[in-house]
Amino acid sequence: MSDFKELVDEISELAKKICFDRNDPIFSNISNNSWNAFEGNLKYAMLYYHWLSAAMLILKPKMVLELGTSLGRGFLSMFYTLPKDSQIITVSIEEELGCEVWDGIKELDRCHFIRGNDLENITVNKIKELSGDAIDFLFIDTVHTDLHFKQELELYLPMVKDRSLVAVDDIYMSISMMEFWNKLPYKKMDLTNPFHLYAPPAKGLVGFGVFKKGG
Ligand SMILES: C[S@@+](CC[C@H](N)C(=O)[O-])C[C@H]1O[C@@H](n2cnc3c(N)ncnc32)[C@H](O)[C@@H]1O
Repeated sequence: MSDFKELVDEISELAKKICFDRNDPIFSNISNNSWNAFEGNLKYAMLYYHWLSAAMLILKPKMVLELGTSLGRGFLSMFYTLPKDSQIITVSIEEELGCEVWDGIKELDRCHFIRGNDLENITVNKIKELSGDAIDFLFIDTVHTDLHFKQELELYLPMVKDRSLVAVDDIYMSISMMEFWNKLPYKKMDLTNPFHLYAPPAKGLVGFGVFKKGG
């Protein structure tokens, strides 16, 4: 447990120092509205973006998978600090990633946006092919129910390399999710405080956690 805790603590410490630079080329295609929304989230304790960014710096994963792209904030946070020879795959059932964001980066062969249901074979197979069954960091952020989360673990955990980290957003979003998270049989840490206490504008507890595959 201590190696895992030390590693997660190291990432958490670095996360407090991460600063997203509006002038970085990665953010250059974001409209002011998108940028303001991103920064606005950070002010409301959505600091797990900082944690994800710090995780890329410390873990230097070669292959990252995000389930649930939405507006691409998690994706951008990771891409911002992703080593230059690494790849990132992000999956979403709807094409929500702001076009202006994607237009700026889609030419890069180390980013892969997959539109599809992450529980369907066609999506699973695409990810299997792209990742070569060798994912070094997984971020799960789609439907926050125990059933969906359980199915995602069954499908994607086998593709994650042993001893790699899996971050999970919104672990307290539903009672079923919270119960499932509490029973997960892995080394895990609840990083809700301070990384994802509330979801603006609501003040409900949302949560953020990380676990380690294998021993
Ligand atoms: C909470 S948002 C993701 C937020 C994003 N990770 C971020 O940090 O900005 C949830 C996303 O999951 C997607 N989603 C929901 N069900 C899905 C499914 N079955 N397969 C793939 N994506 C799904 C939604 O379309 C939405 O983009």
